[in-house]
Amino acid sequence: MRTTTGWQAEGATAILRRALLQRRDLRPDDLAVQIDYCGVCHSDMHALRDHDGKAGHPLVPGHEFTGVVTETGPEVTRFSAGDRVAVGNIIDSCGQCAMCRAGQENFCHAFPTLTYGGSDRQDGSTTLGGYSREYVVRDQFVYPLPDGLDPAGAAPLLCAGITVWEPLHTLGVGPGSRVAVAGMGGLGHLAVKMAVALGATTSVISRSPDKADDARRFGAHGFIVSTDPEQMAKARDGFDVVIDTISTPHDLGPYLRLVAMDGTLSHLGHLGSVTVETMDLLVGRKKLSSAGSGGRPATAAMLEFCADKGITAEIELLPSARVNEALDRLRRNDVRYRFVLDMSDLD
Ligand SMILES: NC(=O)c1ccc[n+]([C@@H]2O[C@H](COP(=O)([O-])OP(=O)(O)OC[C@H]3O[C@@H](n4cnc5c(N)ncnc54)[C@H](OP(=O)(O)O)[C@@H]3O)[C@@H](O)[C@H]2O)c1
Ligand SMILES: [Zn+2]
Ligand SMILES: [Zn+2]
Repeated sequence: MRTTTGWQAEGATAILRRALLQRRDLRPDDLAVQIDYCGVCHSDMHALRDHDGKAGHPLVPGHEFTGVVTETGPEVTRFSAGDRVAVGNIIDSCGQCAMCRAGQENFCHAFPTLTYGGSDRQDGSTTLGGYSREYVVRDQFVYPLPDGLDPAGAAPLLCAGITVWEPLHTLGVGPGSRVAVAGMGGLGHLAVKMAVALGATTSVISRSPDKADDARRFGAHGFIVSTDPEQMAKARDGFDVVIDTISTPHDLGPYLRLVAMDGTLSHLGHLGSVTVETMDLLVGRKKLSSAGSGGRPATAAMLEFCADKGITAEIELLPSARVNEALDRLRRNDVRYRFVLDMSDLD
């Protein structure tokens, strides 16, 4: 085993503490990556909340990171030491099921191995995430970081970015599309930038009117305050695609009413079961969909698209030692628009 350092929750607390972590020795198709930057995703907070109180289960969050290859196993041909790389929230899959064969490893029928809190497919150990200085990972689930993408701003592309890219892309968003993004946080602000870059007329639906200037800066054409019934009524049936990134349970009705005839509401927050009034779907033949993460081909394509269009996340970069402060502020919705941890303070 090899040793690195990271930020770990252990025992009956969701506070992260600096800890020594073990990584496996490299298998023939493994890479060792020095993690330079790791984004703080809302899902990390969900994971910490769910973990709270579970003794004996170490949790190291972090599933959107960039860094540099430091070592390669003998079978690795795509990468060599010194390459800039990126890793997202999936680090392995069965490779054989219909989903994997279709390049949708994120939907693997045998469940993809998650970057943290997953179970390694060979030795069964629990995966420890990217809030650490080093990660060991199969080369197939590592992406070259395209030239020109700032590694700190690019880190959030690997979860937030790909999660909004897949629905935008597969729903055919392009010039002429009318897109609305509900909730302008980590996922939402990247959805706005991508939809604008795809050529769509793009609006933000937010309960935070003070985000309107930023929305415009990201290229949005419209801004709807979700708590204003008049503005919501005026926007009725106005969008071919609504990307819902709201992180707390909420009524989907008001958002379905914004979808145009034959359009789609794509719902991305992890909210468990939801209730839908079927009349909200019937009137206008509307579709309700969801998505999560992305397959390997889509992830690589998303990175190329972002490099081409100059899209990275708006970040607040903090030394990793301030991780608990970042999580606390994210909990209070006090982030514009993604915290990224600088891991160099772990050396
Ligand atoms: N499907 C997947 O694979 C996947 C991947 C990553 C994340 N997620 C999930 O997606 C959700 C968003 O993640 P994120 O990292 O973007 O979170 P985030 O940065 O915290 O942004 C969430 C946004 O939702 C809005 N919001 C929060 N609380 C709200 C409330 N009570 N009522 C209405 N709006 C509220 C806010 O936007 P406004 O201030 O603009 O209203 C906030 O900025 C989370 O549930 C996360 O776990 C899913
Ligand atoms: Zn995430
Ligand atoms: Zn599979």
